[in-house]
Amino acid sequence: TSNHLRHVESLATLPSGAGRISKLNAVILGESLASEEDDLVFPSGDFSRQAHVPSPQKYLDMYKMSIEDPAGFWSDIASQFYWKQRWGQPVYSENLDIRKGRIKIEWFKGGMTNICYNCLDRNIESGNGEKTALFWEGNEPGEDGNLTYNQLLQRVCQLANYLKHIGVKKGDAVVIYLPMLMELPIAMLACARIGAVHSVVFAGFSAESLAQRIMDCKPKVVITCNAVRRGSKIIYLKDIVDAALADSAQNGFAVDVCLTYENCSALEKVKTKWQEGRDTWWQDVVTKYPTTCDVEWVDAEDPLFLLYTSGSTGKPKGVLHTTGGYMVYTATTFKYAFDYKPSDIYWCTADCGWITGHSYVTYGPLLNAATVVVFEGAPNYPDSGRCWDIVDKYKVSIFYTAPTLVRSLMREGDEYVTRYSRKSLRILGSVGEPINPSAWRWFYNLVGDSRCPISDTWWQTETGGFMITPLPGAWPQKPGSATFPFFGVQPVIVDEKGVEIEGECSGYLCVKSSWPGAFRTLYGDHERYETTYFSAFPGYYFSGDGCSRDKDGYHWLTGRVDDVINVSGHRIGTAEVESALVSHPQCAEAAVVGVEHEVKGQGIYAFVTLVEGVPYSEDLRKSLVLTVRNQIGAFAAPDKIHWAPGLPKTRSGKIMRRILRKIASRQLDELGDTSTLADPSVVDQLIALADS
Ligand code: WT7
Repeated sequence: TSNHLRHVESLATLPSGAGRISKLNAVILGESLASEEDDLVFPSGDFSRQAHVPSPQKYLDMYKMSIEDPAGFWSDIASQFYWKQRWGQPVYSENLDIRKGRIKIEWFKGGMTNICYNCLDRNIESGNGEKTALFWEGNEPGEDGNLTYNQLLQRVCQLANYLKHIGVKKGDAVVIYLPMLMELPIAMLACARIGAVHSVVFAGFSAESLAQRIMDCKPKVVITCNAVRRGSKIIYLKDIVDAALADSAQNGFAVDVCLTYENCSALEKVKTKWQEGRDTWWQDVVTKYPTTCDVEWVDAEDPLFLLYTSGSTGKPKGVLHTTGGYMVYTATTFKYAFDYKPSDIYWCTADCGWITGHSYVTYGPLLNAATVVVFEGAPNYPDSGRCWDIVDKYKVSIFYTAPTLVRSLMREGDEYVTRYSRKSLRILGSVGEPINPSAWRWFYNLVGDSRCPISDTWWQTETGGFMITPLPGAWPQKPGSATFPFFGVQPVIVDEKGVEIEGECSGYLCVKSSWPGAFRTLYGDHERYETTYFSAFPGYYFSGDGCSRDKDGYHWLTGRVDDVINVSGHRIGTAEVESALVSHPQCAEAAVVGVEHEVKGQGIYAFVTLVEGVPYSEDLRKSLVLTVRNQIGAFAAPDKIHWAPGLPKTRSGKIMRRILRKIASRQLDELGDTSTLADPSVVDQLIALADS
């Protein structure tokens, strides 16, 4: 038996305390306990009895099966989907060991299917045609809409027909730059229907970032909208797209078509700048196409989408996911981690511009014929009660969000929550970063009235779906722990040398052997895929995260161990922020580190040295921040600029980030050995300038 199987076996012996809530619930919110690990929060007996996985033993049985016979386990599940042609043998093939040659992962190869067909047509055939697929809630309360599965299919088909008409073919890339309108999942599904590869770019990214992605994947068409309201602000998205398209064209790649949805209809069309021959209004063309469209059957291993994400070095990486394994994996993780039942109403607050929106707004839920709430607005507009207003309005039963939102709402006071009933809630979810125990308790006790299990799902853009997650009702939870691996996932904790450590321990989180939802490559750069993820610890997929495992086998994620910062659950590479800063004509050098931030989890702290003779000033600070906003996006704007006449470097010129992190967090007594620096006096200089 594998190592972690033994860990989870201890679960079977845990008391199944029907209705028993551990002592920690009595603990005043936010008070820290001597040992978080010892606090168990039990699901009620009623909850467990109705759950898909009602006990640790049932989980263990299924988990064992999934590890001992992955091909059999996943084939059984895959058979529940529609395949035009069944996959061949073997069910999967993999090489995760760089020492044995090229890294390769394949699932259900030879099988012909279509994920859009499985999300829509299949569910309609089984009687869900009149079920609501999407509820849309606009930025302004009272502005809303909805589509049944039948209607969603019709909208998807019209767009798919239009895309085919303008020449988009199987394998072609389509860039989508849209806010959370129903047209966003519609556009994703339309691409999938015709075998096109979508690349959604989060509509908070700047023109430069968008241009970079466009130039990398070379789409035939970019889909956007004129403008979006977010809270009290209006953002003119089409202007951003225009700038990106101009940039890209100057660099030798011109997009044929820019399909523009007229959102904010109050804004007159004439205000939107237009390039004749390239720009087309969605409403003028798409609605003219037939509401049925034949499906393009694709191989399970044909690409479904590209999603760019930040790494520790260089330009963003195009994470590539394929069709069959991703379909099976997102559907299954959604079903079990949220204990999904057909009567549920599901709301995930993530934007489709991130992986969470791909797997758990669009594909996972729709594959389960779920009813999904899509929210365009901001969670604090018109006030901090908006989320619970929406929960009551749509009778949301599964609510999935990020710790940063929980923490920011927690600060606004309990009245915003208690004003609303929230009695429809059954399950809560958390994703994006470790959820601190005090936020966990507030979420659990207040939002969920101590009734709803919290699924703290650990996963990544690269993993496609949940990797370590509670299964609600199956076992007691520990606030702040993502608990145990999902079926088929074998997490291991290794030391610096890449040796697996057993028992209670902490180290680097890796995964041994593949799972169906794993990414298959980095677009156009398989070598970078191999070096980034499979070289640090040969034989394993390395996540980039640190993790510890307690005596009961529960997993505790401790954050990134590479040069990636997690700001409000958004992944930002320090190298990207640095390269934006040094592009400023007055910035000579920059070093960026993450610091603890009360709401965002981590904040961005930038040390900058200026070009010889340039004085540091408030105007310069602002202009440096603006440069980052313009090059990456507002969410990557540094929280702090620290002027540094010199940076701590080794004699070979390497910046010592360890020291910078300590200065940034003002842990000045933990600076460690500075004697190896080329010029140790820069450290004192930096400390002296810290709060100036
Ligand atoms: C990184 C992945 C996966 C969707 C959102 C972010 C951190 C994510 C958790 C969690 C602790 C988490 C990790 C991971 N992370 N979820 N439940 N507990 N850490 O996707 O942008 O690919 O970022 O987010 O550090 O490596 P992403």
